[in-house]
Amino acid sequence: MEDLKDIFSPAPAEVPADKYEAGSVHWQSPSNIAIIKYWGKRPVQLPQNPSLSLTLTNARTETRLSYEPKDSDGMELEFFFDGEPAPRFRERVLHYLESVKTYLPFLERFRLTVQTVNSFPHSAGIASSASAMSALALCLCSMEDKLFGSLSDDSLFDKKASFLARLGSGSAARSIFGYAALWGQASRVPESSDLFAVSLEDRLHPVFKNFHDDILIVSADEKPVSSRAGHQLMDTNPYAPARYARAKQRLDKLLDALSAGDVARFGQIAEQEALELHGLMMTSEPPYLLMQPETVAIIERLRRYREREDIPVFFTLDAGPNVHLLYPEEVIADVRGFLQEELAPYLLNNTFIPDFVGEGPEEV
Ligand code: PMV
Repeated sequence: MEDLKDIFSPAPAEVPADKYEAGSVHWQSPSNIAIIKYWGKRPVQLPQNPSLSLTLTNARTETRLSYEPKDSDGMELEFFFDGEPAPRFRERVLHYLESVKTYLPFLERFRLTVQTVNSFPHSAGIASSASAMSALALCLCSMEDKLFGSLSDDSLFDKKASFLARLGSGSAARSIFGYAALWGQASRVPESSDLFAVSLEDRLHPVFKNFHDDILIVSADEKPVSSRAGHQLMDTNPYAPARYARAKQRLDKLLDALSAGDVARFGQIAEQEALELHGLMMTSEPPYLLMQPETVAIIERLRRYREREDIPVFFTLDAGPNVHLLYPEEVIADVRGFLQEELAPYLLNNTFIPDFVGEGPEEV
């Protein structure tokens, strides 16, 4: 593994006098959907297996980081979510900023204000840590670059943003890159790393560049077991070593399918991974279940529909009960018809978020 210091020497603590002034930076960053799942980690926020995701478009977080010089010591932060002070999120972000200040020592020289909004309804029960942490990490890198000009190289900027996002939420490392990203060392991708994600855009067949992911909302309740606790339970899961080995093998197959444009193979791997993720939850000690009856009903309907109509539509699941429908652009009319006719009764308030693969974060 690379020596951290070689890649990311900390930014200087002393801000040049002509840059020591109030300013702000502003980013939008999307969520992503993992096809090969990251589930299980080792300190500090390093993955037990490489994971691969498609970057989404509509489910996104917009974050503005404003800063003004201050004289006092320590980190100072105000945090607003949807325009309102949000003390719980503030605690989490403050803790995160403390944890990354070795890389960004200048943060303590400013009074910081973070204002953040999500594009999707809070009631949708969608995990927003990937979009939220990537948007914040991008803001931190822009701030560093404004003060010191140290990240003018785009590829270094993305690498550092991904590295910092990872320290906030592992899956956020992948949201820095458009289309598709890989996080975790994988022999087939020489530039890959456990420390940050890398872009797979150049290895992607065009059919995947506008692939759809309709996120079907089954429940918006808080999960009984958080992702954080779920990762931890992998430490004692008896199937963990086999899981990590299988994920690596599947990754190689998925890389082939992605470059060949093999949608059927892609879909098969996506579904295997989704069910295996939930299988790991069911075999944890103690075991738990995040699927709802509607989740299973949707999966059954989907499989029957696919067989009957020969339409390439597949599912994946995150760590929750909501179902992601994955399909190529050419079958959108069929899939939306099926969704309305057969799946609508299983959705919470008929809610689904139509999403698709996109270009990734954008500076506002
Ligand atoms: O990044 P975290 O700690 O929220 O974990 C994400 C876990 C999954 O969403 C289930 C899988 C993944 O790779 O995104």
